[in-house]
Amino acid sequence: MHRLKPDRLPRHLAIIMDGNGRWAKQRMLQRIVGHQKGVETVRMIVEECSRVGIGYLTLFAFSSENWLRPKTEVQALMALLKKYIRSEVPRMMQNNIRFAVIGNRHELPPAVNKEIDEAITRTATNSGMLLTLALSYGSRQEMLGAVVRIAADAASGKIDPSKLDEKVFSGYLFTDGIPDPDFLIRTSGEMRISNFLLWQLAYTELYFTDVNWPDFDAAQLYKALKDYQDRERRFGLTSEQLRSCS
Ligand code: IPE
Ligand code: IPE
Ligand code: MG
Repeated sequence: MHRLKPDRLPRHLAIIMDGNGRWAKQRMLQRIVGHQKGVETVRMIVEECSRVGIGYLTLFAFSSENWLRPKTEVQALMALLKKYIRSEVPRMMQNNIRFAVIGNRHELPPAVNKEIDEAITRTATNSGMLLTLALSYGSRQEMLGAVVRIAADAASGKIDPSKLDEKVFSGYLFTDGIPDPDFLIRTSGEMRISNFLLWQLAYTELYFTDVNWPDFDAAQLYKALKDYQDRERRFGLTSEQLRSCS
């Protein structure tokens, strides 16, 4: 940890937590055991991120497409989610963490939404890290929803279509008010985005590790953050230009 430069940490870290099922399968266990173990990793990573000074942590926990998994797995995941959110609120309070959710919340079971509302309300005035869970989240659905609302607002005269720019568009997304991720980690060796934050990841640094999510630990996190710190983000400019303005 001592090797990390505090002034070069990602302000916003996003993680695709993948590989729970394979972790379980390798151990001849049920997939849900992998998800349970994955929750422990979430707990630890949230605390580590808050401790090192990450401002925004966004975790992809359940995608729009994950609803198509076997019913028993979906039910088990929803039960786990409810339990996790409820049990984590005291720890969020202790660590000054604010809680948020992005995704199609109306698709979630009412009991899960109740815990989400409770956690959001209770942590609303915390001023530390913003922990956002992406639940029933799909980026194409998010962007389409934004386009539909923009079209409606243009038709009713609320917005002027000729004034529509990136900033206005971003304001129609679930992530309104959250800066774009600086760094994205995906575990389990898959090298794809799987419909996560497609607009917001335009200039995000990507990091893929073969480690399955239940095995991802603080050492792995620091290794990834160190990798991020050694990169040069050019945003289309040349190295020389960047050096002359710093
Ligand atoms: C990630 O682990 C958790 C969710 C998508 C809910 P997976 O369940 O996708 O695990 P693998 O990819 O099958 O190993
Ligand atoms: C992405 O993982 C979604 C989450 C981590 C919640 P998946 O396991 O659903 O992604 P694919 O199907 O391998 O692309
Ligand atoms: Mg997976």
